[in-house]
Amino acid sequence: MKIEFTSIGIIHTPFKEPDDMPIQPAGARGVKGTVMVFEEFQPGLQDLDGFSHIILLYCFHRSRGYKLQVVPFMDSKQHGIFATRAPKRPNPLGLSIVRLDRVVKGVLNVRNVDMLDNTPLLDIKPYVPQFDVQTDGVRTGWLEKITKTAAQQKADDRFL
Ligand SMILES: C[S@@+](CC[C@H](N)C(=O)[O-])C[C@H]1O[C@@H](n2cnc3c(N)ncnc32)[C@H](O)[C@@H]1O
Repeated sequence: MKIEFTSIGIIHTPFKEPDDMPIQPAGARGVKGTVMVFEEFQPGLQDLDGFSHIILLYCFHRSRGYKLQVVPFMDSKQHGIFATRAPKRPNPLGLSIVRLDRVVKGVLNVRNVDMLDNTPLLDIKPYVPQFDVQTDGVRTGWLEKITKTAAQQKADDRFL
């Protein structure tokens, strides 16, 4: 089935190239961005300002093609694409939970951005810990073998 989406806005960030930028919001703490929602979709922003965090769904618009097995940023071993957050995916969809500072008309001021400048926005959802945080038997597969410090270091290295 072919599915077509229309972007509902554009995400602006300080990052112009995919290299040398954070690989997750956790490695982008404090980095500010702006989400510009197109006028026709702005009524949908009503009451969003009550949320401290939002989930941005977007298109990795600078990704070309995909690989079903990749060596992700945080490891030196190969893994299936669906066990990673790597951007070269069959459907190049990105997901980031960012801090929402302000909503002024169609402009959202956000923090902790890990996407490229001019990334097409597909959807916004409120981050709700009661729905989104899992506590029961959480496992994180191959990432468990990477120490937190090493993973953070790698994220930091990419950010610097
Ligand atoms: C590992 S992905 C994670 C993105 C998101 N947090 C997720 O989990 O879906 C982040 C990396 O994707 C790449 N990237 C970010 N925005 C992109 C875009 N619009 N097009 C292509 N690549 C992008 C950058 O190399 C960035 O470091």
